Amino acid sequence: MAENQVEDFMSTYKNLLVEVRDGLGTITFNRPEALNALNQQTIDELDHVLGDWEKNPQVKGIILTGKGKAFVAGADITQFNSLNNEGATTFAKRGQEVFGKCEKILKPVLAAVNGFALGGGCELILACDFIYASENAKFGQPEVNLGIMCGWGGTQRMPRFVGLPRARELLFSGEMISAEEAFRIGLVNKLCKPEELMNESVKKMKLILSRGPLAVAQTKKVLNETFLTAEEGLKKERDAFSYLFSTSDKKEGVNAFLEKRPANFQGK
Ligand code: COA
Repeated sequence: MAENQVEDFMSTYKNLLVEVRDGLGTITFNRPEALNALNQQTIDELDHVLGDWEKNPQVKGIILTGKGKAFVAGADITQFNSLNNEGATTFAKRGQEVFGKCEKILKPVLAAVNGFALGGGCELILACDFIYASENAKFGQPEVNLGIMCGWGGTQRMPRFVGLPRARELLFSGEMISAEEAFRIGLVNKLCKPEELMNESVKKMKLILSRGPLAVAQTKKVLNETFLTAEEGLKKERDAFSYLFSTSDKKEGVNAFLEKRPANFQGK
């Protein structure tokens, strides 16, 4: 192989499909039976791939996408009943660290949102450099429906994307918005027909990869140093998230989801 020719490869993970082609790495969340909800294993796998690709010069840019009708429908809610305050802090810290890797890696990262990007799925795309979306994608931060809140950076990053009033509306209401609305408010860079999402995403990434890689990396570095999510805000988010895990409302909200019924919150 010529010295600077890159090698294509695929890796096998339990919950991710991972492929590198022509220097472009694609991570596909692959637990469609749970709408790609992020359980511990998936977070660990994502951490592993990003850590590996950070050091691997063969990988020059990254696309995140999902298999089936979801990008990622949030953190895996089935894990929540077993989390106490301490566990909730660890849970929030872990997700914040892994999403921070996505934000900090000095290679361009594009989220190709093929379907639901909710809760942790929406927080994850906010840690990417830009977002392309299928016209049938849906976005939202529905944590309040469960009596909890964002724990993986949503309170810190969402206002930077859409401004404080719209961030408040999304974070307080838990409502889902359409891809068109997400595009209108500046969350999404480009709307694509579902069958064109990956082609359009690859096309834009290839254009970026054809530019000076050091120039793109330095640009990301300066943007990060100026706008990077502050640890202080992330800690406040973890503390508030952890507090909510001691409330009856959290128990009610999570049980209501698992029992497929509306929640009846008491504010306790
Ligand atoms: N965690 C765990 N399991 C999840 C999940 C999550 N975040 N989101 C979806 N699932 C599971 C469902 O429980 C269901 O499992 P089942 O087939 O064993 O019952 C399966 O994925 C399919 O989801 P379903 O709700 O039947 O699909 P739908 O098309 O009717 O609704 C959503 C799709 C996204 C609206 C709905 O699944 C939902 O509200 N999910 C939770 C989103 C959320 O609150 N995320 C934030 C978590 S902090």
